[in-house]
Amino acid sequence: MAAIQERVFSGVQPTGNLHLGNYLGAIKRFVELQARYDCIYCVVDLHAITVWQDPEELTRNIRELTAAFIACGIDPKRHIVFNQSQVAEHAELAWVFSCVARMGWLNRMTQFKEKAGKDRENVSVGLFAYPCLMAADILAYRATHVPVGEDQKQHLELTRDIAQKFNNDFAARIKALGHGEAYFPLTEPLISGPATRVMSLRDGTKKMSKSDASDYSRINLTDDADAIAQKFKKAKTDPHPLPGDEKELEQRPEAENLVGIYAALVDHTKAEVLAEFGGAQFSRFKEALTERAVAKLGPIGAEMKRLVQDTAYIDQVLVGGADRARKIAAETMKAVKDICGFVRA
Ligand code: AMP
Ligand code: TRP
Repeated sequence: MAAIQERVFSGVQPTGNLHLGNYLGAIKRFVELQARYDCIYCVVDLHAITVWQDPEELTRNIRELTAAFIACGIDPKRHIVFNQSQVAEHAELAWVFSCVARMGWLNRMTQFKEKAGKDRENVSVGLFAYPCLMAADILAYRATHVPVGEDQKQHLELTRDIAQKFNNDFAARIKALGHGEAYFPLTEPLISGPATRVMSLRDGTKKMSKSDASDYSRINLTDDADAIAQKFKKAKTDPHPLPGDEKELEQRPEAENLVGIYAALVDHTKAEVLAEFGGAQFSRFKEALTERAVAKLGPIGAEMKRLVQDTAYIDQVLVGGADRARKIAAETMKAVKDICGFVRA
């Protein structure tokens, strides 16, 4: 196989209410990976419109998410930050992949089933085809590593299935055109650490989510110290003190969630957190947790608020990032056209 360059790609939807789950499960890890990889971080606005978005709000959310990336520590000079709709190759490659993927594969996607619910006849075609676009996002850059939260695991498996089927279906052409045995890499998901699935503060069995009706279910990146303190104070717990070891967390989803959040905030394991707080009452633990969360999120929220004011700067980051991204994606698209047998200039 021709040597494939290691590259990180990930995307976040600009749908507002960025929360602690997005930060600990994804964006914090994006920041860490910058030291070891060339990274591309994408504001996936084409994914957002699989459900209705008010246009003015969408514009605001694209800029706010870009500000969040930068405020959290992503460096848009050394790495690439852009919004998806500025690089047409995403949608173009997604079409090819929707002809590679099988209905049966997409029918198994649990996120689609959850989002569509009982209203299957009335959701957009885009919501169903969404994983093909996600595969195109990643494979337009032939990315080898994708950091995401646990909820995206199935979509990454599908991305590998699409890459593999494309490589197999066109194996002879791929070889004849000098790409070796395979054109697309089988991308590795990067899902690890204590906060790959941060749960709602109101219900330890439900994921923390942008769309939860209760703002008390999540800590937003823009919450101030008072809001963070209030939300942790009200967070659901059980009546027992914290256990001393991890095994005992298993039947206690709310305790497990708060311990995981604390661990991720201070870069410790859950076991290390329990070694410190085992036997403590939740009231004391919640105070410590609030202090850590405020220390981490306070400066991020403040910087986000400052950056979103400067729309000229934000838009310039996105345009510049898109120009650099397009160069890579255009090369891939040319190769894909040749592999498929399309005639081109
Ligand atoms: P989304 O907001 O759906 O675009 O998600 C952006 C990133 O945040 C993805 O990598 C998700 O897997 C991750 N993410 C979203 N919600 C959570 C959560 N509750 N816990 C951990 N990661 C999450
Ligand atoms: N589907 C992801 C989510 O909802 C967002 C996303 C779109 C993504 N394209 C991607 C994540 C490519 C990683 C790589 O969270």
